[in-house]
Amino acid sequence: MTEGTAETGAEPPLAEKPRLKEYDGEGITVTFEPRRCLHAAECVHGLPEVFDLSRRPWVLPDGATPERVAEVIRRCPSGALQYRPAPGGAAEAPDVPTTVRRSPSGRLVVRGDLLVAGGAGVRRETRVELCGCGASGNQPYCDHSGPCAQPDEDADDVAEERR
Ligand code: SF4
Ligand code: FES
Repeated sequence: MTEGTAETGAEPPLAEKPRLKEYDGEGITVTFEPRRCLHAAECVHGLPEVFDLSRRPWVLPDGATPERVAEVIRRCPSGALQYRPAPGGAAEAPDVPTTVRRSPSGRLVVRGDLLVAGGAGVRRETRVELCGCGASGNQPYCDHSGPCAQPDEDADDVAEERR
């Protein structure tokens, strides 16, 4: 899961760009990686004025304060949603200590200061849900191809933990 920088201290380069959609606002840019979205719906429940699946574009970054948008994005367990603050704004701080947990359906839920090796090279991440079954077509991230297609019974508990 993590590798690369212990000896050199430098962050390894990306092999290719991840497939991201970007939504620019005045105070924050929101990025979305559809293949990693696992539909826990923290976003649409947390801030419907910004995240609305019935609207195009479905993300309106200026629909709330940048601080509030960032706070809800940090609840996205899969890391499908991330953000870049405007100059002077605070970037997301990783959880300390790093935590790893296996969900009942087999996903590995990780939060912390991470370097994740995958098809897009090695990426610095703060929130990921990794495939624990081998079925995902978007390794190492879970894409709900395996037994994890069934909702986890603990999903609501996890959502509650992040509030
Ligand atoms: S919180 Fe993240 S994983 Fe959940 S629905 Fe929103 S974008 Fe997808
Ligand atoms: S754990 Fe979800 S696809 Fe493998």
